[in-house]
Amino acid sequence: MKIGILTSGGDCPGLNAVIRGVVLKGTMTYDLEFVGIRDGWRGVVDGDFFPLTRHEVKGLSKVGGTILGTSRTNPYEGPRGGAENIAKTLYGHRIDGIIAIGGEGTLAAANRLYNDGINVLGVPKTIDNDLRATDYSFGFDTAVNIATEAMDRLRTTGDSHQRCMVAEVMGRHVGWIALHAGIAAGAHVICIPEVPMSIDQIAEQVSKARDRGRAPLVVVSEGFTLQGMDEAYSDKGLDAFNRPRLGGIGEVLAPEIERITGMETRATVLGHIQRGGSPSAFDRVLATRLGLHAADAVVDGAWGQMVSMQGTDIVRVPFEEALGELNTVPQYRYEEAAALFG
Ligand code: F6P
Repeated sequence: MKIGILTSGGDCPGLNAVIRGVVLKGTMTYDLEFVGIRDGWRGVVDGDFFPLTRHEVKGLSKVGGTILGTSRTNPYEGPRGGAENIAKTLYGHRIDGIIAIGGEGTLAAANRLYNDGINVLGVPKTIDNDLRATDYSFGFDTAVNIATEAMDRLRTTGDSHQRCMVAEVMGRHVGWIALHAGIAAGAHVICIPEVPMSIDQIAEQVSKARDRGRAPLVVVSEGFTLQGMDEAYSDKGLDAFNRPRLGGIGEVLAPEIERITGMETRATVLGHIQRGGSPSAFDRVLATRLGLHAADAVVDGAWGQMVSMQGTDIVRVPFEEALGELNTVPQYRYEEAAALFG
C-alpha cells in the first residue's frame, strides 16, 4: 500500500515525531510505502507529493515545525478541490489513503472526505488542547513549558521593578495553556475563556498580591472575555476559515489594571514562540506513539478514525467524536487553581 502523510493547520512541536513514527513502523514492520504531501490539503489538491523513506525521517523526533510544510487550505475549495477531483489525483499517483495530522479544521475536512469515499485517518494535534476524544494532544505540553519559562522570567523583572506583569498566552477559545502555565508559574490571577471575569475582580487579586509585597503576575488566555464583552478580543481580521484571529486582550487589561490599582503594569504577548522549537520529551513520546499506532491503523483499514490518547493508552475513535464541541476547561479545574489566586 502507498500512503500519503500531511500536516495541516497551525504547526505544533511534535509533528515531525509523528511522521517519523508512522514511516518507521510502516516501512520496517509492514512494508508500506509513503509519500509526503506538501503544505497540508494544498498538496493533495495540487498533487504535490514526494517520496518519504526512512532516510527522510532520520533524527526527526526532536525537530520542531514540520518537514512537510503546512497550510490552512480547505480541500473542498478551488477548481481542483472536492472529493471527486481528489480521488482522481490520488488514483493517478497510486495513493491508497491519507494520514492527516491536524486540529479541528483538518479533522473536519478529513471526516468530510472520508464520508465522500476517500480513505483518511487522523492524528490529532494542537497546542490548544481543545480537541475532544483525546486526553492530551501533543504540542500542548511543550507550549505550557515555554509559557511557564517565559512567565518565570517575567516574574523576576516584575519583582525588580515592583510592576504587575500580564502574560497573554494562546489557546483560542479554551484556557488550558493559561491554566497549566499559570499554575506552574505561580500566577496570582488566571483569566480563561471559560470563566469571564470583571476588571474589578482581576484588579482585586492584583491588589491582594501587591499588598503582600509580591509583584503580581496575571496570565490571560487570548480567548478570554471580560464580563460585558460579547466575544473574544480580535483586531487582526479573519483567518482562512473565516475565524477571527485572536490576540491583544493583554494590552486591553494592562492599562485598566494600572488605572484601578495604581500599580505600573506591562503586558507581554507570548505569541508564536509557544509553537516553535523542539518538542518536550512528553510530546516526543506521545507524538511518536500516535505515529506508530497510525501505521497499525492503516494496516487494519481503520479509515474514518483518529488515533488518540485516553489515559495512558492510544486508542482509535471515529472523527465525529472529536468534532463539534471543544474540550473546555471544566469548572472544577478552574476552582482548584483559584485557591492559589491573590
Ligand atoms: O490553534 C493554534 C494557534 O496557535 C492558536 O492558539 C492561535 O490562536 C492560532 O493558532 C494562531 O494562528 P496563526 O498561526 O494562523 O496566527
